[in-house]
Amino acid sequence: MTSVTLPKALLDQVTTPYRLLGNFAWRFARGKLGGDPAFAGLLQRGLIPSHARILDIGCGRGLLAALLCGLDTHPGPSQDWPAGWAPAPRGVSVRGIELMSRDVERARQALAHLGARAEFVQGDMCLTDFGRADTIVILDVLHYVNHVAQDDVLRRVKTALLPGGTLLLRIGNATAGLPFRISNGIDIIVNFMRGNRVSRLYCRPLRDWQQTLTGLGFEVQTLPMHEGTPFANVLLVARLPASVATATS
Ligand SMILES: C[S@@+](CC[C@H](N)C(=O)[O-])C[C@H]1O[C@@H](n2cnc3c(N)ncnc32)[C@H](O)[C@@H]1O
Repeated sequence: MTSVTLPKALLDQVTTPYRLLGNFAWRFARGKLGGDPAFAGLLQRGLIPSHARILDIGCGRGLLAALLCGLDTHPGPSQDWPAGWAPAPRGVSVRGIELMSRDVERARQALAHLGARAEFVQGDMCLTDFGRADTIVILDVLHYVNHVAQDDVLRRVKTALLPGGTLLLRIGNATAGLPFRISNGIDIIVNFMRGNRVSRLYCRPLRDWQQTLTGLGFEVQTLPMHEGTPFANVLLVARLPASVATATS
């Protein structure tokens, strides 16, 4: 079994820009990038291709952009890259969409040095243009909007993806019992502390997510993505076959 935590030198490097925002923001970035298995898992499994044009929906303070764009200046396999991990992707660019204007400001401030490679837009995912991308990432975001809105976002994701593109969608599996209830409770408390009064979350059983994505024409693979946490999170890797027609532009 290979490690599912980021190499320490990489974590140090990609979180350093958040020092600009103060000690709490820096520690938050370290805790999230170092403790959430999604970030290391994406790299370990090679789910982000080199030169990917990524859309990160619900990007928070831009942690995914900090990590992926930061890889370009990390030595990679020659030094502390974990054995068994896929090669580090290079030349990635990220466009993030985020509802909370304060988080967008913080992402822009911390990652200004990345220039056009990391762009952050304030907006509601239900209303904001997705543009085009070859990889779309949605980590722990869709459950904030109701099921009709979720379906609409997923339809628009399909339209925004280039043929052969991939959606990486992490959800909490609503049929997973106690771990699911724990993650839901923590989610509501964290949102309350961030000033976002979320009264309910719109979760679904894993099977529903799979059926919805398959119905849209995606080929879907599921990966547990909660190692080291008490949660019930699953990553859906939804690939759009190269032959599926999307947007006409
Ligand atoms: C649990 S956080 C996850 C942040 C980030 N994806 C990560 O994994 O670190 C969920 C994020 O989604 C954002 N969000 C919630 N509803 C949204 C919406 N309708 N449009 C855009 N972003 C939204 C929240 O403000 C928050 O930053």
